[in-house]
Amino acid sequence: MSKFPKNFLWGVACASYQCEGAWDTDGKGRNIWDDYCHDTTHQNIKDGDTGDVACDSYHRFREDVALMKAHNVQVYRFSISWARVIPDGDGDVNEKGLQYYDDLVEELLANGIEPWITLYHWDLPSALQDKGGWLNRDIVKTFGRYTRVIAERFKGRVTHFMTINEPQCVAQCGYLNGNHAPGWKLSWEMVAQVYHHICLAHSEAQRVLKEVCGPDTLVGAVPCGSLAYPEVDTPEGREASYHASWDLSHGWNFNIFLDPLILHRYDDSANDSIKRFAKTIDPKDWDLMEKPDFLGLNIYNGFAVNEKGEPVKRAPGAPVTACKWPVTPEVMRYGPQHIFRRYGIPMYITENGLSCNDKVYMDGKVHDPERIDFLNRYLLELSKGIEDGAPVGGYLQWSFLDNFEWGQGYSERFGLIYVDYTTCERIPKDSAAWYAKVIESNGEIL
Ligand code: BGC
Repeated sequence: MSKFPKNFLWGVACASYQCEGAWDTDGKGRNIWDDYCHDTTHQNIKDGDTGDVACDSYHRFREDVALMKAHNVQVYRFSISWARVIPDGDGDVNEKGLQYYDDLVEELLANGIEPWITLYHWDLPSALQDKGGWLNRDIVKTFGRYTRVIAERFKGRVTHFMTINEPQCVAQCGYLNGNHAPGWKLSWEMVAQVYHHICLAHSEAQRVLKEVCGPDTLVGAVPCGSLAYPEVDTPEGREASYHASWDLSHGWNFNIFLDPLILHRYDDSANDSIKRFAKTIDPKDWDLMEKPDFLGLNIYNGFAVNEKGEPVKRAPGAPVTACKWPVTPEVMRYGPQHIFRRYGIPMYITENGLSCNDKVYMDGKVHDPERIDFLNRYLLELSKGIEDGAPVGGYLQWSFLDNFEWGQGYSERFGLIYVDYTTCERIPKDSAAWYAKVIESNGEIL
């Protein structure tokens, strides 16, 4: 029996600021990541790196699409730079910026690759940040207007849209911890407000997409966080890991965003500030929340719990990635099941991957056995999760190209394709050829 369903989709993902470059080309406006990287008072990014050039995909997208095609990629999830399309976020449309995405979509379609659009992957136009960004409720309408521009342009050509990538990072990295743009450090009450506006903005965008593109167009939300899996696979262990997955005292979780959006409530484990904020929500707001058609799960790692639901300490020297994230393939089996049990919405894995210390070897090639081993393990676990009943329709590896890894600049490489940042030359790694075979065999070679 096949490990994956017949129509399972295989793809790759990336985001505008991380790969496009061309930061001030063809009328693009400034966004908060331009500002955050260019900030000369604080060095916000490792080694002072910026996304000014990145992989230069703005100029090299045809080469990138050709590489995708050569590696059997079926879906490309990319994000749109809001400030490239509407330079000040809410004013005139910049036709040249919009044309770039039109050309990309056409190139993908011509090569038999499905374009999946993420509307927002963290690069807010600076002019909107000046008005408070996600803290200002006006963002809901403004996001709706921007969505309309994209929907009108791409209706009939794009079947899957995702609204706001990882609200957890937007709210907590950007507005609480200040380790992402805009680098604000606000109180939890204010961060709860940011989350609330993101739920409303998602919903507004979903309404606009359905209205413009039709009811069959699928709209997804893309959360992230830490999910639990059983240390030992017993019924008690599974049950305990399900409950441990929503405990907000572990830090950020999927449900800090999905509970209010879908269940119209906050988990009891939410902190006091969130609870205080929840009491101030206008009850009419709950009627505005739209349930997504699908959930895009970005899953990198999780944590094991015992049968009492207590986190289990990892063994000394347990495997980690180059950026020291724990390697925990089991989360791919149980995580989607937990999410489906709580929300009952079909899913795609919209991101999964790892950074490795990749380099060009003496033979001119990039050997990355660690990536192959990691992806193989995670995909096998995913296939078990699907067999257990989790409706996951596809898997998008993060990331196709090495790219700008936010605060870590170019020091972390997540790609299947190596990028030489001095020349922008692309060199497929061993894992790219391996992944092409995984796709070709619909996972049979795993
Ligand atoms: C983000 C990506 C990021 C990746 C690896 C995800 O949280 O959506 O933009 O590059 O993780 O850190």
